[in-house]
Amino acid sequence: MLVTSRSYAEYEAMFDLSELPESVLDCCAGGSSFTAEATVRGVDAVAVDSAYELPAPELVDTVRRSLPVGSSIVDEHAGSFVWHWYGSPDRRDEMRIEAADRFLQDISVAPERYVAGTLPELPFADGRFELVLCSHLLFTWADKYDRAWHAAALRELVRVSRSEVRIFPLVRQGAGEPVGFLPELLEELEGVSTEIRKVPYEFQVGADQMLVIQH
Ligand SMILES: C[S@@+](CC[C@H](N)C(=O)[O-])C[C@H]1O[C@@H](n2cnc3c(N)ncnc32)[C@H](O)[C@@H]1O
Repeated sequence: MLVTSRSYAEYEAMFDLSELPESVLDCCAGGSSFTAEATVRGVDAVAVDSAYELPAPELVDTVRRSLPVGSSIVDEHAGSFVWHWYGSPDRRDEMRIEAADRFLQDISVAPERYVAGTLPELPFADGRFELVLCSHLLFTWADKYDRAWHAAALRELVRVSRSEVRIFPLVRQGAGEPVGFLPELLEELEGVSTEIRKVPYEFQVGADQMLVIQH
C-alpha cells in the first residue's frame, strides 16, 4: 500500500474543516503534512500509521517512492478523475511533494507526534481525541481489507474519539467503485449517529462525500 502525502489544504477540503478542536488524530496519516500544519495552528495533533514502525531511512524512501506511484494510479484511471479542485496535474504533484517534505521534516524534529500503530487496535486511551480523521484507508482499500476488518476499524476509531470521526472517501481506490458493505456496516454500528455529508472536494469522479460518526 502507498504511504501518500496529502496536505492540510486537502484535508481541510476532504473533511470540510473550519475550526479544529483542541485535539485531533490523523489515522492513518502516512506521509501527510496535516499533523505538522495543525500543530502550527495550536492543535494537539497526533498522527498514527503502521508505516511509522519502519526505520527512518526506509520510511523516507517509502514516502518518496509513493509520490510517482500515486500519480501513475491516476494516469491508469484517467477517466475516473476530475481536476477542478487541483487545477492541474502539476499543481497536485507540487502539493504532494511539499506535503511530503513538510512531513519528513516534522517527524525528524518531533517524532513524539508520530505514533506507530495498526488498525484495528490503536495504542490510545478511550476518548483521547476530540476528532479523528481518516483519509484514504477505510473503504479506499476495500480490496485489501474485508468487511469484518472495516467493522472492527470503525469501532476502534469511535473508541479513541471523544465526539466525532470523519472518513473520506467512501469509494474504492482507482476507478472509485462503491463499497457494497458500507450501508450494512453503518446500520450495525451501535451507540453512534452516522451521516453521509457532501464536502467541497472531488478528485475521484463523484467521490465528494465523507462519513461523519458522532457520539
Ligand atoms: C493511502 S495512505 C493515506 C495516507 C494519508 N492519510 C493521506 O491521505 O495521504 C494509507 C496509509 O494507511 C497505512 N495503513 C495501511 N493499513 C494500516 C493499518 N491496518 N493500520 C494502520 N495504518 C495502516 C499505510 O501505511 C498508509 O500510510
